[in-house]
Amino acid sequence: MAHRAIFITGTDTGVGKTVVAAGLALALRKRGIDVGVMKPAATGCRPKRGKPASEDVEYLVGACDCEDERDLVCPYLLREPLAPEVAARREGVRIDVGRIVRSFNELRRRHEVLIVEGAGGLFVPVRKGYFMLDLIEAIRTPVIIVARPALGTINHTLLTVEVARARKLDVAGIIINDYPARPSVAERTNPDMIRRYATTRLLGILPHCRGVSVERNTYNGLLAAFEKRVDVPRILNRLKEKRR
Ligand SMILES: Nc1ncnc2c1ncn2[C@@H]1O[C@H](COP(=O)(O)OP(=O)(O)OP(=O)(O)O)[C@@H](O)[C@H]1O
Ligand SMILES: [Mg+2]
Repeated sequence: MAHRAIFITGTDTGVGKTVVAAGLALALRKRGIDVGVMKPAATGCRPKRGKPASEDVEYLVGACDCEDERDLVCPYLLREPLAPEVAARREGVRIDVGRIVRSFNELRRRHEVLIVEGAGGLFVPVRKGYFMLDLIEAIRTPVIIVARPALGTINHTLLTVEVARARKLDVAGIIINDYPARPSVAERTNPDMIRRYATTRLLGILPHCRGVSVERNTYNGLLAAFEKRVDVPRILNRLKEKRR
């Protein structure tokens, strides 16, 4: 498979984009595929040995075991836990979309599959007047939408799919993440509602995995759960399809 990329977005921040991206990286690597990762802009980075470091970036890099330079994997590491545009402005950083796209192209050239994790959802501003949505449009990758299982997710998921479609993004499907062992009525009924109304495929429902944590950098049980609950062959097929 030659140099394909997929973008992991979410209905919101904190829905599990990093966990899903890492699970996909592990599942592809298990199939012998060389995987790279990218996070165009990370916010909420804490200083580590004097430099800002991102838990998301470390988790993604750990899952794909790649050796790419951190400033290619994540061109913008910003301190405050805010939308990139706001965090950058408050830090006096100018976000150059061209630099993000160049990093993307370089990483895509290096790997068979490049998994890109967005920040927040589609309408998160990356820089003035430029949203995550615009970045996906520029790099032209298929998109997986990560959604939460709880009450409110039907609306958030349908809104996200609708906006993606309106902008002619290639929606590969939805993954509901962090599904609890004892679901509420909303959580039990939401997957079917999303299947019925979302006009795109539900690729899987990833359960809550006790051994998984981005903050603690642990992956226990992630690959097994991903293989069992997510339609990896379908994602692979989508990656193999000719670029439009
Ligand atoms: N399936 C899961 N099992 C266990 N913990 C999970 C699972 N999915 C997510 N989490 C935990 O929930 C939190 C949010 O997940 P994650 O960091 O992947 O979200 P995100 O969408 O990437 O957030 P952000 O917008 O900050 O990038 C993390 O603490 C993560 O470890
Ligand atoms: Mg994340």
